[in-house]
Amino acid sequence: MSAEIKIYQRRFGAYVRNYLSGLIPPELRGMAALKVVHTQRVRAEMKRLGGRIGLDKRPLFLAELAGLFHDIGRFEQLRRFGTFEDARSVDHAAFSAEVCLENSFLKELAGGECRLVITAIRRHNMKTVPPASSFLESTLTMLLRDADKLDIWRVFNDHYCRQGRESEQDDSVLVLGRPDTPGISPQVAADIMAGRIVDIASVKNRNDFALARLAWVFDINFVPTLEEMSRRGYVQSLRDSLPEFDEKDQLFQRVGQYIDDMIATKTPAC
Ligand SMILES: [Fe+2]
Repeated sequence: MSAEIKIYQRRFGAYVRNYLSGLIPPELRGMAALKVVHTQRVRAEMKRLGGRIGLDKRPLFLAELAGLFHDIGRFEQLRRFGTFEDARSVDHAAFSAEVCLENSFLKELAGGECRLVITAIRRHNMKTVPPASSFLESTLTMLLRDADKLDIWRVFNDHYCRQGRESEQDDSVLVLGRPDTPGISPQVAADIMAGRIVDIASVKNRNDFALARLAWVFDINFVPTLEEMSRRGYVQSLRDSLPEFDEKDQLFQRVGQYIDDMIATKTPAC
């Protein structure tokens, strides 16, 4: 770890410790701890993916910072509202950007660099990303969106791989309280067949939720992200997490073909 990132790591650790050791009620601290793991994984993914797409040393450092602080607002969100569900609380990405600025977490950065990191954080969960004002701004934002998705797929993968052995584990947090009802919503299937991400309003049950996560592939920006997704078996794991239903083969074939085509043609690529 570079000396420079260590300063920011210490800052992150000191801030989060306040929440884990007092500010957040004990029964919610497990959820908060998972966000610490997610944060560090996303930071590492930013470094790895950034390297794969050829970022120079300084942009790579900014990418790592964006990963480290991208969800920093989650802890205050959980303290205030008791949930990670943005629809019932705040937009956690905009809130994370605010927390970063309020606490001067990026105070050593020049104004332009700070704006790049803050913009990436603010836009990491947007359904549609506004036009970027520079190539680097676009790259950092798109990379953070990819790294975040890659790690959320990892969380699903770990959870469902473990489920056989620890079936008692409650997964309602993971699927944001969606009910475990049979079948899938026609709109979700239609979106996947059309190569679109799924609108959260169409997600009615746990099956829809897993399929909406699967449909994120259509919103991935860099080929190395898709390569990692494929190499780590995340598509298969999402498939295994679902019961049998009529459209299952067709939907997974559509997604599998899309990933293979993108990797083969190196599009979208940076
Ligand atoms: Fe996030």
